[in-house]
Amino acid sequence: MEQAVVSPCAKVSGSIVVPGDKSVSHRAAMMSSLASGTSEISGFLRAEDCLNTLKALETLGAVVKFSGDKILVTGGKWHQPEAILDLGNSGTGLRLMAGLLAGRPWVSELTGDESLRSRPMQRIKEPLEKMGALLELTGPKGCAPLRIKGAKLHAIDYQMPVASAQVKSCILLAALFAEGVTTVIEKEKTRDHTERIFMQLGLPLTIEDNKLILHGFGPGGPELPPAKWQVPGDFSSAAFWLAAAAAKPGSRVVIRRAGLNPRRTAFLNVLRRMGADIKVETSEDGNAAEPFGDIIVNGARLRRTEVGGEEIPNIIDELPLVAVLGALADGKTIISGAHELRLKESDRIAAMAVNLRLAGVELEEKEDGLVIYGGGKIRGNASVESRGDHRIAMAMTILALSAEEGITIRNIACVATSYPSFWDHLRSIGAKVRIS
Ligand code: S3P
Repeated sequence: MEQAVVSPCAKVSGSIVVPGDKSVSHRAAMMSSLASGTSEISGFLRAEDCLNTLKALETLGAVVKFSGDKILVTGGKWHQPEAILDLGNSGTGLRLMAGLLAGRPWVSELTGDESLRSRPMQRIKEPLEKMGALLELTGPKGCAPLRIKGAKLHAIDYQMPVASAQVKSCILLAALFAEGVTTVIEKEKTRDHTERIFMQLGLPLTIEDNKLILHGFGPGGPELPPAKWQVPGDFSSAAFWLAAAAAKPGSRVVIRRAGLNPRRTAFLNVLRRMGADIKVETSEDGNAAEPFGDIIVNGARLRRTEVGGEEIPNIIDELPLVAVLGALADGKTIISGAHELRLKESDRIAAMAVNLRLAGVELEEKEDGLVIYGGGKIRGNASVESRGDHRIAMAMTILALSAEEGITIRNIACVATSYPSFWDHLRSIGAKVRIS
């Protein structure tokens, strides 16, 4: 199993173009596979999660071609899959695909790797069954593998019990194939990539604050023309470099063409609260579904902060990094209201608690977050475990840059699920890493 030995470094600097946004890549590919004709996606994330989604779409009848930095997806009529659809490590891939399959007149089976087969699926079974499909969770404790018996769906009014863009998107995708008007109400606003892509395609979606109203097309679904999609850089990938530079006075990193969807960028506000100097230069492209631009960060001695409440869904994937910054900042940093973090690719609260302690950080683990007593020395020579979770591996790498001596991060192959060029980019900002 591969591991990385990451050396500390005094400061980092450089300019990085991060790979395409994972959430947007999934959705652009899925919507393209529904359109009659060939859609073009620029900036598609060529990482394991999204490649697994492409394979699933091919099994359903789409044709995918790689052409330079673009991918071409020819969609149209889907057919019953002849194989089990394996979405690998990706919750987005599996949950959104389930929504697209719920209204089809056949049985589909979906599965994933060990991590994905331990994540809760009751949260999509409940609304999809309310719409008329049947979902059998054949794994232990309400988990995948998943068998979907598709049906003629009807619209529902649904109040989201958890703040989850994956569940919201699953329902909206199913609702395209339902008779009637579906309403989804979110208590806390989650990322809105699906809504943006629907609006771009002219689909009949109305957004009234936190209420989404979608007119279904019935079992035939919408007739979609092919489209051109521009995927911005993934803000969650950019966040690693923003954190690396923010915590080191004298450092400066520029991220080019990063996604700047406001439902994704709460981490910028947290960095500012902690004392980092951040500039954002938004690019003007009125036609793009997603805002994007450059982010410039200059490092500083950071101070404590608190992250919780409505901010959580908009920073959910960056919370392991907030924990790292909390360890490097002066004072007590508190992350609360983040129970969902226990249900990601790993239990990220437990994983960060164990790993930060191994690096000498004092903290308290709470059911819904962490309390971190920052500003102490980061012990070198620690050996930490990613638990097969890409974001844990990358967050601990950023901590290692501030350790007294190198830190070993074990089990790093998972980084390829979202960010295959991560190690090259790490080297490009001046860090030393040995992979073996
Ligand atoms: C995602 C939504 C989030 C996020 C995940 C991607 C999406 O999950 O953590 O990495 O693409 O919709 P939840 O919506 O389940 O919180």
